[in-house]
Amino acid sequence: MTNLFDLTGKKAVIAGASSGIGVQFTEMLAGQGADVAILARRYDKLVAVAEEIGAKYPERRIIPIQCDVRQEDEIIEAVRKVMEAFGQIDILLNNAGVVDAVPIEALEEEAWDRVLDTDLKGVFLMSKHVIRHMKERKYGKIINTASMLGLTASASVPTHSYNAAKGGVIHLTRGVAATYAKHGITVNAIGPSLFRSEMTENTLFTEQALKMYNAVCPMGRPGNPGELNGAVLYFASDASSYTTGQTLFVDGGWTII
Ligand SMILES: NC(=O)c1ccc[n+]([C@@H]2O[C@H](COP(=O)([O-])OP(=O)(O)OC[C@H]3O[C@@H](n4cnc5c(N)ncnc54)[C@H](OP(=O)(O)O)[C@@H]3O)[C@@H](O)[C@H]2O)c1
Repeated sequence: MTNLFDLTGKKAVIAGASSGIGVQFTEMLAGQGADVAILARRYDKLVAVAEEIGAKYPERRIIPIQCDVRQEDEIIEAVRKVMEAFGQIDILLNNAGVVDAVPIEALEEEAWDRVLDTDLKGVFLMSKHVIRHMKERKYGKIINTASMLGLTASASVPTHSYNAAKGGVIHLTRGVAATYAKHGITVNAIGPSLFRSEMTENTLFTEQALKMYNAVCPMGRPGNPGELNGAVLYFASDASSYTTGQTLFVDGGWTII
């Protein structure tokens, strides 16, 4: 029987893969047979990730490329480098993100812009410059990392800029999916709840915050490393050939209550 999840020979790009869940996605895609270009601002971290995962999968190419997703010129150059190295892009994972927890009355415009420019405009710019290559080949799988906070809000944690950005990602996913469906390109999103990473380590993984989270989350715990991989693999592979514009919340049931 055909393995619907096989990624042998596929070429992937992950924006936001120098730390956190992006590193796990890099390892998962490489493990399923894909070559992966990894993008972020901290080049030294990308090199370390490429070396570590490359050592586990020596037959795969893991290419670190420094790129700030807020800067269109850097994205154009990064995509050029990926095309030079791989010749094609089958999978784009827009995973770069930052968060802020400042209530709207105290939120500075610069802080708002930082979150919106990274989390939403970054998805727009990356998609813009990759999708033209996918369109030429009539094949592409775009996966955007949204968040449960793109659908739900929190009274105790005021992530207003992040809510706006991730809500925007969810609906941008639908819009781009609708336009490019006839071009063989699927566009979907994942909506994680709480996973340990640099972003969450010192804020949401405190004893008090975890107690609150676990009390509300139907599964009573945060996500474990690797528990987002299944959703990403589904959207990255031909298993999702008739699925587009969807956001899959991987949240222990948080958004169903
Ligand atoms: N962890 C969770 O519980 C959770 C829940 C819901 C959604 N998410 C989303 O998951 C994604 C990954 O976050 P994480 O939790 O793994 O946190 P993380 O460890 O802080 O990772 C964030 C990644 O985004 C990159 N990044 C940030 N700003 C960037 C920029 N301007 N240009 C390029 N790359 C940039 C960072 O690299 P550099 O700093 O090197 O640039 C890093 O690789 C984010 O979109 C986040 O919103 C996470």
